Amino acid sequence: MAVHGDYPVRLGILASGSGSNFAAIAESIAQGSLNARIQVVIYNNPDAGVALKAQHWGIPSVLLDHRLFSQREEFDLTIARTLQSYDVEWVMMAGWMRRVTQQLLQAYPQRILNIHPSLLPSFPGIRAVEQALHYGVKITGCTVHLVTLEVDSGPIILQAAVPVLPGDTSDTLHARIQREEHRILPEAIRLVAKRGVIG
Ligand code: GRF
Repeated sequence: MAVHGDYPVRLGILASGSGSNFAAIAESIAQGSLNARIQVVIYNNPDAGVALKAQHWGIPSVLLDHRLFSQREEFDLTIARTLQSYDVEWVMMAGWMRRVTQQLLQAYPQRILNIHPSLLPSFPGIRAVEQALHYGVKITGCTVHLVTLEVDSGPIILQAAVPVLPGDTSDTLHARIQREEHRILPEAIRLVAKRGVIG
């Protein structure tokens, strides 16, 4: 059942890791619950698992290794140009472990989403799951938000709460959080795409 706009929203994915959030988006599209098309996956680590997943889904992937760029701005400009060359209209940071610069934000103003494994504004930055565990919170979760210059701090689109259970390790807790990530990221894309069509 297509639940929003009349045309598939054209997505670009930025990912540094295993790509389970990318796969969740691809599955939502395949099941017909998300009216979108993934134009390209950009990844920055040669051994990122997302590359294999993209291949499995028959989606083009491009390796842009940040280590080969002397400046963040130059790296982001190349990302922006690559996304534009694949006709991307919305960008999803699905486990993208690089800070962004104006170069990317200006190319896609208000059109970049990030998924973060905590209930922002708690525990921004790296190792968010470990931070929550060490702090001793009883509830954590995940957040989809619009990307701004400051790390993990843009306007919030969706959140999901996840309990911290006795005996949790960062792995067990992260796995529970990821189940919610895989649900709310496609849902957030539906929301912003609808807003884009209406607005
Ligand atoms: C996710 O937990 C996301 O919140 C964080 O990095 C992880 C990426 O996981 N930013 P995957 O590569 O999508 O499996």
